[in-house]
Amino acid sequence: MTKKLRSTEWFGRQDKDGFAYRSWMKNQGLPHHLFDGRPVIGICNTWSELTPCNAHLRGIAEKVKRGVYEMGGFPVEFPVTSLGETLMRPTAMLFRNLASMDVEESIRANPLDAVVLLVGCDKTTPSLLMGAASCDLPTLVVSGGPMLNGRFRGERIGSGTHVWQFDAMVKAGELSKEEFMESEACMSRSVGHCMTMGTASTMACMVEALGMGLPGNAAIPAADSRRQVLAHMAGRRIVEMVAEDLKPSDILTKSAFENAIRANGAIGGSTNAVIHLLAIAGRVGVEHSLDDWDDIGRDVPCLVNLMPSGDYLMEDFYYAGGLPVVLKQLGNAGLLHKEAMTVNGKSQWDNVSAAQIYEKDVVYEFDKPFKAQGGLVVLRGNLAPDGAILKPSAASPDLLQHTGRAVVFEDIEDYKARIDQDDLDIDASCIMVLKNCGPRGYPGMAEVGNMALPAKLLKQGVTDMVRISDARMSGTAYGTVVLHAAPEAAVGGPLALVQSGDEITLDTKGRQLSLNVDEATLKARREAWKPVHPQSDRGYVKLYQQTVMQADKGADLDFLQGGSGAPVPRDSH
Ligand code: FES
Repeated sequence: MTKKLRSTEWFGRQDKDGFAYRSWMKNQGLPHHLFDGRPVIGICNTWSELTPCNAHLRGIAEKVKRGVYEMGGFPVEFPVTSLGETLMRPTAMLFRNLASMDVEESIRANPLDAVVLLVGCDKTTPSLLMGAASCDLPTLVVSGGPMLNGRFRGERIGSGTHVWQFDAMVKAGELSKEEFMESEACMSRSVGHCMTMGTASTMACMVEALGMGLPGNAAIPAADSRRQVLAHMAGRRIVEMVAEDLKPSDILTKSAFENAIRANGAIGGSTNAVIHLLAIAGRVGVEHSLDDWDDIGRDVPCLVNLMPSGDYLMEDFYYAGGLPVVLKQLGNAGLLHKEAMTVNGKSQWDNVSAAQIYEKDVVYEFDKPFKAQGGLVVLRGNLAPDGAILKPSAASPDLLQHTGRAVVFEDIEDYKARIDQDDLDIDASCIMVLKNCGPRGYPGMAEVGNMALPAKLLKQGVTDMVRISDARMSGTAYGTVVLHAAPEAAVGGPLALVQSGDEITLDTKGRQLSLNVDEATLKARREAWKPVHPQSDRGYVKLYQQTVMQADKGADLDFLQGGSGAPVPRDSH
């Protein structure tokens, strides 16, 4: 027996309520036959002119609609909170969980049988996936695609990555302010999201590796007509998914998350993926812990030569074969759950087994990888008992085992005030420590973990130092940067106890992060510790600060764990 469509609870009614549900929709010029019991497909759109990476998504939505109509569905586009990474203050991450609630409630409250999620900029992907996973209606993700390669004076320049580089060059006197300004338009020269392997590209790859997007979803440039074809095909496919009742809970299994972790290693993906995948898994009730990232991802080599760790960009990645060739190589190496189901109704292996590498300088072969270690390292020790992470492929190999003197910044304002002072007592062997930038301390957990080095050391030619914080790092950044230390300083985690002059050891091989201070001293400091940052007293930020979980749990709000499906709500007419 075919399952009754959810939308018939609205449009299938013959009474006065059914009249109301249909009548107002008809003011949009919709003919009566669209209400004849066909699947209603929500197109959940994060289009916004304040989210430039997603500004082309109205056009993508039109292509999805074509596909839906072709297959006899009824498409309805609706907006949800859009999180633009570059403009939102204090950080778009503060609103990821809020946007996910908007998505969840918008889906549940409306007459929808399935959804296509249109995403792009960093936080738009996890927020929509989290919200939709909580509802568990058939769901297919269409990413907006990366921008075309940036070009400046004959060279590829990458979103974000070159901002850091150019900024360091200006500080070192190697680039003028005028040249710095000129490079802006050269970097962002087409529609789409950041085209380095930053968080947006990483999350688009995660969508594909999790099985939630069609093959090719991650890398087709936003400006390439094939992106529109993918959207069209997604519209066709989602109607079939309704008939098959293929839901996120059928796709987002433990195997899917393990595939995603390994794919993240193989692409040299963003550290932000850790937090987002933990949060998504929490919504579908899949067991997934921070340690999985080390246990499962540890030995995965990085195969993809993309900035920020490498030389190329997403456009090149697409021409080289994109994520399917990466997944295929993982499969051949025994590192892919081949049977994992995907949105097109086929297994991952069915989707990728025929893929070929076309550019071997962009996608390397598994036995001759671009970098031997692509996975993330999970560190523990008395400085991060609940874990911290490090991305070795973005770090300097000679700093991975390092002991140094701590130079502590109490918060980001303290860092900004003192970092470029001539009398700052710091040298290249020191370890920079930044406190109070975790989920609660800096609500939203700012991307400031890759603190720029002191100008005086940059001028000496220093390019990297060990940095430790409870913050996140932009996916386009690099360096020997220990992130997400948990518990964070603002809740009294051990990071709060570090003082300038303490000795810290980073032992990447042994997975330890140690504050070499005797326990009696630490006890005294703990007793004297007081929270330095006030809690917000109103609105969403208050709710966030009261309920956000630590980074090792995905920084979701504690009451959003586990989905509740999409039962039809009561009506009040
Ligand atoms: Fe939107 Fe990078 S700023 S993806």
